Amino acid sequence: MKFIDYAMRGGEHPDIEREKLERQIANVTLNLFMDDPKYQEKGIKWLFNLMFFQSIYCTRDKSILNYLYKKRPYPEFFELEVTTLCDMRCRLCEHTHWNVPPKNMSFEDFKKIVSNFPNLKWAGMTGIGQSMLNKDYLKMMKYLKDKNVYIENFDNFKHITPEVSKQMIDMGLDKLYVSLDAATEETFNLMQKGAKWDEVISNIKFFDAYKKEKHLHWPELWFHFIVTKDNIDEMEDYLQMIFDLEVDVECVQFTKLLHAFKEIEDTHVEISLEKKKKVFEKARELGIRVGFNMNTSDGKDPIKNCAVWTQPFIFVDGTVVACCSQNEQNDRPFQIETSPGNILKDGMRKVWKKGYGKMLDELNSGKVPKNCERCVLYKK
Ligand SMILES: C[S@@+](CC[C@H](N)C(=O)[O-])C[C@H]1O[C@@H](n2cnc3c(N)ncnc32)[C@H](O)[C@@H]1O
Ligand code: SF4
Ligand code: SF4
Repeated sequence: MKFIDYAMRGGEHPDIEREKLERQIANVTLNLFMDDPKYQEKGIKWLFNLMFFQSIYCTRDKSILNYLYKKRPYPEFFELEVTTLCDMRCRLCEHTHWNVPPKNMSFEDFKKIVSNFPNLKWAGMTGIGQSMLNKDYLKMMKYLKDKNVYIENFDNFKHITPEVSKQMIDMGLDKLYVSLDAATEETFNLMQKGAKWDEVISNIKFFDAYKKEKHLHWPELWFHFIVTKDNIDEMEDYLQMIFDLEVDVECVQFTKLLHAFKEIEDTHVEISLEKKKKVFEKARELGIRVGFNMNTSDGKDPIKNCAVWTQPFIFVDGTVVACCSQNEQNDRPFQIETSPGNILKDGMRKVWKKGYGKMLDELNSGKVPKNCERCVLYKK
């Protein structure tokens, strides 16, 4: 494979195992690129970035896991919190219940953080807040798109007006989750206070219409529904409602509460196998792809198989936490106290060597690091 060289990986990790892994991913990339016009829309380097991410993040492949723990390759993905400002009061979100002072990330800090990741391939730009309330959000997104980074964001579409949709689509955003936890306006008003159902629906429709006008596959639109006692009965209706919108939907993802923290524990509910079957049946009938987040699964892997740490989550103040599933527990002080470090204060290389090094030694030996004590994805 000629197109994989050290320049492409940024000159890092010139070792045999890395070489082998990259070659395998490059082969898959090339085949997909040749076969599927939707990938040709984006370019081969971008597709390699995506395939690399998909091969590593959450991997269950033993040889890749072994490589990750042994070599601990410097991170090539991150999630970034561009703001903790929010103008809504969603019932299930920690933001509604905490007293963390709101803060926007400056463009300077953003660039400083990005400069810590020379081989960045994938980025999420959603934190605990409304990203659009940071005036530099779109500029930040464009900055990463110009580096060929795959970008996946979450938004409830309160602020994705037609003008914003156009900018996001034109700059090449790759995937956008619609955070929508209701099939009806009534439940929406209960769950997601601070936005108007009609405006959100109209914004979603415009986003889809503009994409179609431009004959684009990307950005893919995914829907994200957090299941609680208040909306579990409308999961199937939710699929019908989405079908009736007549927008192109890549997938509908159901998730349960990450942590049943005390202010919301009364709304926590498990999704039974029976319920999942009914949802899958409805999805088949409508021709919609659905998925259930790994936090809804009964059979959890042992903690030493975690590969989620390959995608650090960076708070607005630079604190690095090992993964996004540690969020939404309404205990940010604990997250900061047990964090592997702060990228703005120490730089990522130091955070990776020291804080992460210790955490990965522990995980690798089957121990539970302090910051992972409340893990909801793996068996402790
Ligand atoms: C924290 S929000 C931030 C982005 C934006 N404000 C939004 O609402 O989409 C990101 C995602 O987290 C989800 N979320 C909020 N509270 C949650 C909880 N307690 N458990 C799991 N996911 C949650 C939201 O539904 C949303 O899809
Ligand atoms: S889910 Fe999003 S919009 Fe709702 S309170 Fe949390 S950060 Fe704000
Ligand atoms: S909290 Fe769980 S999923 Fe996150 S890094 Fe720790 S072990 Fe992995």
